[in-house]
Amino acid sequence: MQKTPPKQAPDANPVAVSRDRTPARRVALVGFGTVGRAVAKILSERSHGDGLLRLTHICNRSFERKKQPFVTERWFPADVVWTDDFHAILNSDAEIIIELIGGLTPAEELVRGALKAGKSVVTANKQLIARHGPDLLQLASANGCRLEFGASVAGGVPVLPALRTGLCGDRLHGIAGILNGTCNYILSRIETDRIPFSEALEEAQARGYAEADASEDLDGGDARAKLSILALAGLHIRVSAGDIRARSIRPIDAIDFDYAAELGCTIRQISRADLKEATLFTDVGPSLVPTSSPFGRVQKNLNLVLTSGEYGGDMAFLGAGAGGDPTAVAVVSDLMFVAASLAAGTPSVKARPHRPLQLASPTVTCDFETPWYLRFLVKDQPGIIASLAAILSSHQLNIDAVLQNPGFDKNALPFVITLEPCRDAQLHPALQEMSALPFALRPCLCLPILR
Ligand SMILES: NC(=O)c1ccc[n+]([C@@H]2O[C@H](COP(=O)([O-])OP(=O)(O)OC[C@H]3O[C@@H](n4cnc5c(N)ncnc54)[C@H](OP(=O)(O)O)[C@@H]3O)[C@@H](O)[C@H]2O)c1
Repeated sequence: MQKTPPKQAPDANPVAVSRDRTPARRVALVGFGTVGRAVAKILSERSHGDGLLRLTHICNRSFERKKQPFVTERWFPADVVWTDDFHAILNSDAEIIIELIGGLTPAEELVRGALKAGKSVVTANKQLIARHGPDLLQLASANGCRLEFGASVAGGVPVLPALRTGLCGDRLHGIAGILNGTCNYILSRIETDRIPFSEALEEAQARGYAEADASEDLDGGDARAKLSILALAGLHIRVSAGDIRARSIRPIDAIDFDYAAELGCTIRQISRADLKEATLFTDVGPSLVPTSSPFGRVQKNLNLVLTSGEYGGDMAFLGAGAGGDPTAVAVVSDLMFVAASLAAGTPSVKARPHRPLQLASPTVTCDFETPWYLRFLVKDQPGIIASLAAILSSHQLNIDAVLQNPGFDKNALPFVITLEPCRDAQLHPALQEMSALPFALRPCLCLPILR
């Protein structure tokens, strides 16, 4: 059923006030796209935080084409100032700036300019925070304002605010998540209907869940940027996204779900970060997870984040990781928090504690010890298993099981060997030797088994 928006009340009083007579905080929105529109609508339809917030400016390049469809809609505030120049926003009387243009340029210039001018910033920009988060937090702190980025990871799932408030009393040592809805959609579609990877990708693109060039999603770039932000907020460490190994989901095919099912597992893109003293073990990529586990049950484009703390144990956060409305809720929640802290006169005080100035820089490695799933595609001939077993044995690697389903073409035979736990670095040279054997049609697919 179509929701009828409440009639826009004429704004007779140019200086809106909250119920306790505090002047509403003036908010400028830069980027009137999917999330920006949804934020403007929430701000306009609802009196947030008892009138704490007032949308005064909107900036978008070539804004006339953006503005036209909305000026006639009753929810839209008539007195908002439109501009296509973000410098005009920096020079305006707006106290809080919402950055929703995405990317690094000119978002970085905008955010730095705002913070230097003492304006607080709310952003959903994972690229910007993954690359410059620690510096920008320091800049905000130095200028007595706030930088909030709760929507930059897992969209509408309030995991970042939870890390920075509800869990800041714990000492977290582990964070793992399904952080990319596009990958989860594709993998769970292959799982459900055993369709080829290419068909699942085309379907995700047709439904708007994947971009025409989905490399950032499929190859793990998006997830590792999000993981570096989670590590910043939850583990209080500085880790560059580029230092986190990312493995692609492209080699995964329907047959892998058949073999995974025989092991009681399914396959998901898992991003994980475990802090052990001064070493961060971290990895992003397709992994086997038990079908009955929380990760195994996450379907379609949902996100799930699990945290492990020294005192509080394990916590789970599940929900819509993207979409205009869920992401806008996270943005508006950050805005309300900033407005409340400005009203309390504590913009840079630890009303929402974070430790931007005490970040550790651990050694980063992907050398986890774990059991492994190795899937080979070979041209069948006698002695294949013996050759592979000889290489594995020469690297002190123990086979746990060999799985081979009947009915495949002997010219392109897929089969699986699982290994007992070993370190990534121990396995890697053996993989190279096995993939170079003459019967191997493709490099061996190697996935960690996370129990
Ligand atoms: N969409 C989601 O589900 C989601 C979820 C979590 C986080 N985010 C993050 O939220 C941010 C916004 O995403 P979105 O999906 O709303 O993107 P979007 O639909 O592409 O909107 C971006 C808007 O910014 C405008 N813009 C771009 N560069 C500009 C500039 N230099 N000056 C003024 N306006 C400019 C664009 O104008 P044009 O129309 O001319 O391109 C567009 O209207 C991104 O950082 C994204 O990663 C999005």
